[in-house]
Amino acid sequence: MAKNAGLLILSLSFLFFLFFSVAVSRNVTFDHRSLIIDGQRKLLISASIHYPRSVPAMWPDLVAAAKRGGVDVIETYVFWNGHEPSPGQYYFEDRFDLVRFAKIVRDAGMYMILRIGPFVAAEWNYGGVPVWLHYVPGTVFRTDNEPFKSHMASFTTFIVQMMKRENLFASQGGHIILAQIENEYGDIESVYGDGGRSYSRWAANMALSQNIGVPWIMCQQYDAPDNVINTCNSFYCDQFKPSSANKPKFWTENWPGWFQNFGTAKPHRPPEDIAFAVARFFQKGGSLQNYYMYHGGTNFGRTSGGPFITTSYDYDAPIDEYGLVRLPKWSHLKELHEAIKLCEQTLLYGTSKFLSLGSHQEADIFEHSGKCVAFLANVDERNDKLVIFRNVRYNLPAWSVSILPDCKNVVFNTAKVRSQNSRVEMVPENLKASAGSGKLSWQVYTEKAGVWGAPDLIKNELVDHINTTKDTTDYLWYTTSFYIDGNEFLSNGSLPILMVESKGHAVQAFVNGQLQANSSGYTIKLEAPITLRAGVNEIALLSMTVGLQNAGPFYEWLGAGLTSVKISGLRNGGLDLSGAAWAYKIGLVGEHQNIFKADGNHDVRWTPASDPPKNQPLTWYKVEVAPPQGNEPVALDMQSMWKGQAWLNGKAIGRYWSLTSSVYNKCTQNCDYRGPFSPDKCRTGCGEISQRWYHVPRSWFQPSGNTLVFFEEKGGDPTRITFARRRVTAGAPA
Ligand code: GAL
Repeated sequence: MAKNAGLLILSLSFLFFLFFSVAVSRNVTFDHRSLIIDGQRKLLISASIHYPRSVPAMWPDLVAAAKRGGVDVIETYVFWNGHEPSPGQYYFEDRFDLVRFAKIVRDAGMYMILRIGPFVAAEWNYGGVPVWLHYVPGTVFRTDNEPFKSHMASFTTFIVQMMKRENLFASQGGHIILAQIENEYGDIESVYGDGGRSYSRWAANMALSQNIGVPWIMCQQYDAPDNVINTCNSFYCDQFKPSSANKPKFWTENWPGWFQNFGTAKPHRPPEDIAFAVARFFQKGGSLQNYYMYHGGTNFGRTSGGPFITTSYDYDAPIDEYGLVRLPKWSHLKELHEAIKLCEQTLLYGTSKFLSLGSHQEADIFEHSGKCVAFLANVDERNDKLVIFRNVRYNLPAWSVSILPDCKNVVFNTAKVRSQNSRVEMVPENLKASAGSGKLSWQVYTEKAGVWGAPDLIKNELVDHINTTKDTTDYLWYTTSFYIDGNEFLSNGSLPILMVESKGHAVQAFVNGQLQANSSGYTIKLEAPITLRAGVNEIALLSMTVGLQNAGPFYEWLGAGLTSVKISGLRNGGLDLSGAAWAYKIGLVGEHQNIFKADGNHDVRWTPASDPPKNQPLTWYKVEVAPPQGNEPVALDMQSMWKGQAWLNGKAIGRYWSLTSSVYNKCTQNCDYRGPFSPDKCRTGCGEISQRWYHVPRSWFQPSGNTLVFFEEKGGDPTRITFARRRVTAGAPA
């Protein structure tokens, strides 16, 4: 009996082992048509959601909304500079908890694509590469360069090992079915010459040597080596040719919208056009496509790239910045996904035939085991067209694809939006005191213009901003003083002119402590009349970065900061101060003291102010507030302020800037979806503040005693800052 029981246990555990080992390991390969998971060809809808662009409390809902929208795969980049802030020091907490994010995706029953990069572009500061790497002697990014390759390989290996320890790769039973190395290298390879070519081969081989057991992709890398799949990024991908006949067509970045810069109007891409792009891709033999972005989110803190990329990374994506589904885009795409999924087997296993239905009308027909699927496209940008297909008349709207899962009935046409529109409002809510009578108690700390404490550097030249700050802060003070004899002023009373040139991104000029002028741009030429006095005058120039360049060949060498400072309009002509003795200070007192941190541990004396100063430069404001009512997503309405940064309970909300977009930005309220899309085709908000609302995640609030801190660079009115709750008034979230 005991022996039998032993046998039974043994065989049960053998069965369990068998079952378990079958269940735990997924075999992911590919052929010319698609990815093959456990022997089955797969047609996959993927969605980019970048974990640090939201907060862990939002992740489960974002992933669930993607799943409800018919998405199979969540794709994310890995953000190297967020994870390795200094060499060998790793960070995976909070918004950077990659494993937690990956497990949420897995637990939702979805696949994952890990775009390790670790160069990512992504409108992310410095393209995701840590700024410190630029200062490792001899380093040149993204070419055949030993220091770059060795740091990149060790970070890539670190990430791979971390995911392996958690058994997250499909080969280990996990859900990561693909990984990406590098990003859009093809376009820049020739710029780097032989170094570029050998680097891309090296990167591919380094990736393959990681033995993750699932395929690697490289995007826009036309000679990706065997076993590495080349993919496409663009607004349309139907002309895309795989790099070789035995590789499938994948689309890593299908852009449902676009990002925004401070000072430009908001880009939009209509649902009809994004649906058209997706349907065309599958019509033309694609088998995996990824929306970049499906949820764009927020560039919190100083993470946005640039320069000048807004803190919002909404992207006009199917899920908006705040985590609400955007209708009708989200639901139109959901219906599209359902229609495409009806065709999956026939598309992937069938034979395909092309049939011209007119000069701009095309049918692609797929047949397999007695089943037939057809995609009928009208690529005419203006005219609808009646066509006959298999003796049936079909009206094809201009710039549309009809999907016929049985070669007869149209279940979906990309130009016919059937789903509801959502209407969302930003409902203003005044800041309220945490407790008591309700009067807000503000506190203020004002920075003095110019170098504070001991200078970090004194030089008889204007230094590069980024080389000096190493991006530890946006701010660098350049200060010098000079003597003016009373006789040098012009007798007619005209003011001298200060002329400042800079490589960007923004500058404020103070003379003897008073703000005189400010300017911003990719290159700056500021000219402003200034008031000087007889005797010693101090010029203090605050140079500011607004996000570092995130892409392009040799992008890491682009500098910022002042290149020339002159004064004209004096009796003896002018003064060239460029070679004067300049004293430099990196960052602000408030930053060094971390006065925005929640613990309040610092030496700075805040001054209580029942009526805080307005239009005053270089001012820190602090106020204790109650959380906004209800549970809708929350933003700060910053239109009464000019430019600076904001924090809640020590968490960095990001840079704000009430820069207005030009009225000449060519906005349109009625965007014509027909015809090729470009980011400038459908903008809204010309002549308005480019970003007015700043997302503050609900999970950052406490039940009471919430501390808001603002640093205002130029001058604003903090008493008119409000919260705004994002309320859906029609088209409830699905
Ligand atoms: C692509 C790049 C992405 C992102 C996108 C624009 O070229 O690969 O990382 O920058 O452009 O949003």
